[in-house]
Amino acid sequence: MGTQESVVQGSALLDKLRRGVVGLDVHYTLATGERTRRIYLDSTASTLRLKVVQDVLDKFQPYYSNTHSVLHFGAKLSTAEYRWAHEMVLSFVRANPEIYTAFFVGSGTTAGINRVARTLREKRPNRDVVITSVMEHHSNDLPHRKHFRHVVHVPVAMATRSFGCVDLRRLEEALREHSKRVNYVAITGVSNVTGIINPVHEVAELAHRHGALIVVDAAQMAAHLPVQVSGHGNPTQDIDALVFSGHKIYAPGSPGVVVTRKELFAGLEPQEVGGGMVDQVALNRYTISKHFPDREEAGTPNICGAIGLGAALYALSKVGMDVVAEEEGKLIDCAIGKLGTVQDIIIYGETDCSQCQRTGAISFNLKNLDHALTAAALNDYFNIAVRNECFCAHPYVREMVTQSLTDEADGLSDEELANQAELHRGMVRSSFGIYNTMEDVDALAAALRHISANKDFYQAQYTRLSNGDYEHKVFKFDHTKVFSVKGEVDALLAM
Ligand code: ALA
Repeated sequence: MGTQESVVQGSALLDKLRRGVVGLDVHYTLATGERTRRIYLDSTASTLRLKVVQDVLDKFQPYYSNTHSVLHFGAKLSTAEYRWAHEMVLSFVRANPEIYTAFFVGSGTTAGINRVARTLREKRPNRDVVITSVMEHHSNDLPHRKHFRHVVHVPVAMATRSFGCVDLRRLEEALREHSKRVNYVAITGVSNVTGIINPVHEVAELAHRHGALIVVDAAQMAAHLPVQVSGHGNPTQDIDALVFSGHKIYAPGSPGVVVTRKELFAGLEPQEVGGGMVDQVALNRYTISKHFPDREEAGTPNICGAIGLGAALYALSKVGMDVVAEEEGKLIDCAIGKLGTVQDIIIYGETDCSQCQRTGAISFNLKNLDHALTAAALNDYFNIAVRNECFCAHPYVREMVTQSLTDEADGLSDEELANQAELHRGMVRSSFGIYNTMEDVDALAAALRHISANKDFYQAQYTRLSNGDYEHKVFKFDHTKVFSVKGEVDALLAM
């Protein structure tokens, strides 16, 4: 934590940011006919945007220019601000700019991890094994499967009887077993399903001890915890590459960003080539810029996305991520306690935060109620926005659902258990950002209590569709009455 004075200032600034969030004051009409304010509990999918970011981007628009243009005023301004966004990323994750570079990529964290996987395969061709964990989002699993011969999925440790963070003992066994073949360990900083925090610096130390690199998926970490890529007292705890995305940290769009040691990308032809990253091009040859980050950013970049992300990171760094983490920690502890009192609830992952720390997300089910029905009822009757299903983390979700069914199963055969697990494959996820309050948690707990006590009523209101979703029998939501691009353009162009 910072000094007492900086914490007080940070908390005051955090309050100011919370008051200015785009989308906090949205109202919808519910199945009951009431019109209420929506409670947003889906920040793990995408956070709402900070108004300060939106305002900065609006102010930037008149000066917007392509950063490949050079000499006119708009080009100078846009280029300098785009460059500043890179510096801001490095400073936010505390990566030494002498050693590390940051570059922006296309579709969020996924694009960044794919780029890292392809590059490290080429950089270290004799190392054809990647070690990851079972708790990963598909974006930190499938790229390694696609680009490497062999991917090892290390299990999570059972903290008490519940799923905790990655099992360091099993990780070390895997590192020993595959020894000189391991290219890198790819690990999430925070699970997008349970919010469980992994000890990424201990993982780094283990990986480095065995000659492997460490790649951190910080998609769910960056908005919730302080990140320190380099400068650890013990340098083996430094991180080699870290990836995250603007849409999970209060910025619009999904500019992915890779922070990496320059040496890992140097000396290779970048995976993507085109304009803006070459020194010379003749018909029979071209020379690629040696300069980072330009050489990794072929084509006109997502300039507004990067600048928006830079603005969000700057605003959060003025608050202090230690202040954000402290406040959110209290909210998560309180939410776990309150949700735990709801009848028939199963909360997935270790809930004893002294055993296993969490941030950002809590996933659960109500016994004997499909996750999709719970999520639909939360939306249609309580105006609470959550996500359900498997959150692009199928193996992890399946394992936890199966385990909880096994705990409950009374005399079910393995086959019946497997069928049950398939039928109930999915959870409901409530997830939190800086704008969520204890009142939001209370509203969620009260809504779940009501649904749990009235399962037959809610079941009777819906038809289950063939895709597993639930449609209300009477209440219909017509989004065009709220917003449609075409409708807005038509209205704006009406003479
Ligand atoms: N990957 C995002 C999530 O976990 C979309 O919800």
